[in-house]
Amino acid sequence: MIVRAMSSSTQPIKTVAIIGSGLMGSGIAQVAAASGHKVTVVDQSQEIVDKASASIQKSLGRVVKKKFPDDSKAQQTYIADVMSHLSLQTDAVDAVKSADLVIEAIVENLDVKKSLFSSLDKAAPPHTIFASNTSSIPIKDIASSTTRLDRFGGLHFFNPVPVMKLVEVIRIPETSDETYSALEAFGKAVGKTTVQCKDTPGFIVNRLLVPYMMEAVRLVERGEATPRDVDIAMKLGAGYPMGPFELSDYVGLDTMKFIIDGWMEREPNNPLFSKSELLNKLVAEGKLGVKSGEGFYPYN
Ligand code: CAA
Ligand code: NAD
Repeated sequence: MIVRAMSSSTQPIKTVAIIGSGLMGSGIAQVAAASGHKVTVVDQSQEIVDKASASIQKSLGRVVKKKFPDDSKAQQTYIADVMSHLSLQTDAVDAVKSADLVIEAIVENLDVKKSLFSSLDKAAPPHTIFASNTSSIPIKDIASSTTRLDRFGGLHFFNPVPVMKLVEVIRIPETSDETYSALEAFGKAVGKTTVQCKDTPGFIVNRLLVPYMMEAVRLVERGEATPRDVDIAMKLGAGYPMGPFELSDYVGLDTMKFIIDGWMEREPNNPLFSKSELLNKLVAEGKLGVKSGEGFYPYN
């Protein structure tokens, strides 16, 4: 049964709960807090949220160096101000009780996302808008675990969130105009340019980027070049800021695998979505990229 919101969702979003404090959740929390929102970030353990808090402070350290060069007092004040808009905790149900917007940025797994949203749907007030930052899972499949399809959409940020200037705003057929406008306004309020896309695999950016990154892996699997030479080639020959192997390590090889496995399941005959033994092997070995200390390259 779909429950309609009693209060208007055209009110500007002031309080945000972000579930998942990994690469993306901590970046989204940072930009939301820096733009004056009251932000609660949730993850599975105190140890994980403590790590996220440290990584947000480190990232803010980079921001202030640019914003207030040679003024360490202004740098510290800015960081303290942003951090004062943020709280970190481990109870998602409690965090959503006062949220205008919930952004989910947990593992790229449909069942896990559905189970989370189903429990949050019961706890959040009627006016609360739900959004997923999924890279590749249909928003409609995730939204089906809730009774608020009209207040559900996709907000797809890019890594590193404080630097990348885009947010894709995704609507499903049931997303109300008010919800879409509120999501778009939130994307702009955190300083991003927004684009609209239908609920299609990979939306705009990943639909083009992920097949390119996977073809780079297949090229190496065919023995045609080394990862290092492919990366040099794409940076110097095509002007990309990172080569596809550096970028895969940066995104996370587990996330890459979740994306491609999900698409292959949906479109098994699409050659752009075919799997890679090399990627599967690295993930099985726990080599997930920068976040685990090793992927295609080692990181220390
Ligand atoms: N927080 C704050 N600032 C950061 C930062 C962070 N986490 N990371 C980098 N920066 C800032 C730096 O301080 C630096 O600022 P200045 O230029 O003012 O000094 C600037 O960004 C550039 O950083 P660096 O000099 O350290 O390094 P770089 O020039 O190599 O740039 C990069 C780093 C921005 C990550 C660049 O390599 C890049 O754009 N890479 C491609 C990223 C990309 O394609 N992202 C999309 C991935 S796909 C995705 O996200 C979707 C999905 O669903 C999988
Ligand atoms: P990550 O592995 O860095 O972080 C995921 C976090 O979610 C972890 O800290 C984990 O402990 C936490 N988590 C898992 N289940 C949870 C639960 N039930 N409740 C609370 N926390 C939980 O992953 P990430 O790279 O930040 O990706 C998160 C989402 O964002 C995924 O859907 C991914 O596809 C998407 N995304 C990733 C990128 C990228 O470049 N990595 C870019 C855009 C979107």
